[in-house]
Amino acid sequence: MNFLSRLKDLKAYKTETTPCKVRLSSNESPFDLSEELKEKISQKIKEINFQKYPDPTVRELKEIIADFIRETEKVDISADNLVLGNGSDELIHLLISVVGEISQPIIYPVPTFPMYQVSADVIGRPKVEFFLNSSFDINLSDLEMALYENPQLALFASPNNPTGNSFNPEAIKLTIDKGIFTVVDEAYIHFSDKKSFIEYALNTDNVVVLRTMSKIGLASIRLGYLIAKKEVAQLLDKARMPFNITYPTQVIAKTVLTDGRKEILSQIDFVKSERDRVLSQLKRIQKLKVYPSDANFYLIKVPDADKVHKMLIEKGVLVRNMSHLPKMENCLRVSIGKSEENDTFLKSIEEVIKDF
Ligand SMILES: Cc1ncc(COP(=O)(O)O)c(C=O)c1O
Repeated sequence: MNFLSRLKDLKAYKTETTPCKVRLSSNESPFDLSEELKEKISQKIKEINFQKYPDPTVRELKEIIADFIRETEKVDISADNLVLGNGSDELIHLLISVVGEISQPIIYPVPTFPMYQVSADVIGRPKVEFFLNSSFDINLSDLEMALYENPQLALFASPNNPTGNSFNPEAIKLTIDKGIFTVVDEAYIHFSDKKSFIEYALNTDNVVVLRTMSKIGLASIRLGYLIAKKEVAQLLDKARMPFNITYPTQVIAKTVLTDGRKEILSQIDFVKSERDRVLSQLKRIQKLKVYPSDANFYLIKVPDADKVHKMLIEKGVLVRNMSHLPKMENCLRVSIGKSEENDTFLKSIEEVIKDF
């Protein structure tokens, strides 16, 4: 086992698996695809030649993603600006593996999405972590201090997971202006009204934006994409695993982003308006602190997170207990569900909180 000693202390990615009727713990979309769309997908799946490798360039799907972005964000983007990954997790790992020198650190604020730490630890790359302030934003002075360590890659999840807020864009611009390769992970941007960094990614050598289909209805197929200048995308694509986007994934994503586009967009609208409804109801409950959210989930602070988390499970509601993370004492992260699931959560938390 000595061969694997480097992995002994690895803090691996963990997820909530407790079975519960109402699951609001993984920031997935609350909606499955419609039967009509599933029918269309089934037809196309039947046409797959299963013995064959998929299109290695994923050209058609890239063109459809570019069209989706052009329609929804009115930017000038083409298939050449995209690199696709088996989830954006794969792209995060790729970036941490190939940008700059492996011996030189990456930098990111904490608390944030744990895969930055996991990926860096897996490949043995040094990390510079600095704390977010009490509003979970970045203090420019803290960032500037951390930059003395000379990181070569900066990662910002904005909107951030698990805090739900977007970062001060000036902080992100600071690393860009200093010439550090900057990744803006926009996994939750569809739920935010803040400005995306997509224009930067399309026009600047040292900026890329990451997106994912996981939060907008397709977590099952594992599809993420990176947006960059054509030359940057071309280079990064060289380091991608061959055939990393399976044939079924390509077929499903193409169908959903064409025939199902309206369906997906209206679900995003629903999640945003439901989030605003739930947050305003939660604010009425005493003993709860509710944090603002630009995402499809939100963060609350409760009197005793471990206890509240357990009591919610007893009521059949699963949320994510974040209280083990630094700066997240007594915080729970809750995904937006269907209206009735959110109502069940609201009723349950109100009942549970009464006992404190
Ligand atoms: C900020 C952030 N980035 C990336 C991901 C990974 O997304 P994917 O499912 O595409 O790997 C997540 C998933 O929760 C996330 O929260």
